Amino acid sequence: MGRLENRKVAIIGVSEGLGYAVAYFALREGASVCINARSESKLRKIKDTLSKYGKIEYVVGDVSSLITAKEVINKCASSLNGIDDLVITVGGYIEDTIEDLKGLEEMIKNHIKIPLYVINSSLKYLNEGSSIVLVSSISGVDKASPNQLSYAIGKTGLAKAVEILASELIRKGIRINGIAPTFIDGNFEPERNWKVYRKLGDPKAPPEDFARVIVWLLTDESEWVNGVVIPVDGGARLRK
Ligand SMILES: NC(=O)c1ccc[n+]([C@@H]2O[C@H](COP(=O)([O-])OP(=O)(O)OC[C@H]3O[C@@H](n4cnc5c(N)ncnc54)[C@H](OP(=O)(O)O)[C@@H]3O)[C@@H](O)[C@H]2O)c1
Repeated sequence: MGRLENRKVAIIGVSEGLGYAVAYFALREGASVCINARSESKLRKIKDTLSKYGKIEYVVGDVSSLITAKEVINKCASSLNGIDDLVITVGGYIEDTIEDLKGLEEMIKNHIKIPLYVINSSLKYLNEGSSIVLVSSISGVDKASPNQLSYAIGKTGLAKAVEILASELIRKGIRINGIAPTFIDGNFEPERNWKVYRKLGDPKAPPEDFARVIVWLLTDESEWVNGVVIPVDGGARLRK
């Protein structure tokens, strides 16, 4: 019996790396899964590959406004007949400095506004026992870098949102946590032995190492973990 048997999990902003891996591990734990991104060809390919592991649906759509986020979440809920748990892996990375502010609009949109739009849209489906997982970054919770102004501010804001939202949602029995990865290395492939690609403390690791922590945060095993952002870096931050 899987740890997510009968759970309906929406994964918003799915790449061929982390989001794909989260979908795979959630299916292997018995969940039904709805994946979202803007690229239909990618979602179709992921669905075709993962269908043998369980029920997987996809919804194509851009979640960058409250209106379109609601459309995507409502379609996911119809496809699964509800949503119990929510994972938001929308990404994007732009380097900038105070001199150029190249990433300011997009990084605040992707890392702050979108997660809030998606959570707002999902609340009517979530219930007591639901779990939400967001993805910050080690750049948002550890040392500052000189060329990551907007990205790091976005990821720091996202980490703070985890705490504030946890305090807000606690009365509904809904948990929210985050992970703070280092560098997620390459695309996901089902059933491979990913452990050969890294050693403890490496600054990069394959998507599996991050996805498994996200899926654990959805399970009952983590039910007493709430309102935290867990660095998932194999200890790399300690070696600087
Ligand atoms: N990669 C890393 O090394 C790293 C390190 C630390 C933290 N993170 C974080 O980990 C998460 C996953 O990383 P990743 O590299 O897999 O992310 P990513 O590829 O940058 O983003 C995930 C997916 O989100 C989708 N997306 C972007 N904007 C969207 C929108 N408006 N509506 C719907 N979908 C949208 C994109 O697919 P479409 O283009 O098809 O829409 C994209 O493939 C992100 O939050 C990222 O910031 C990543």
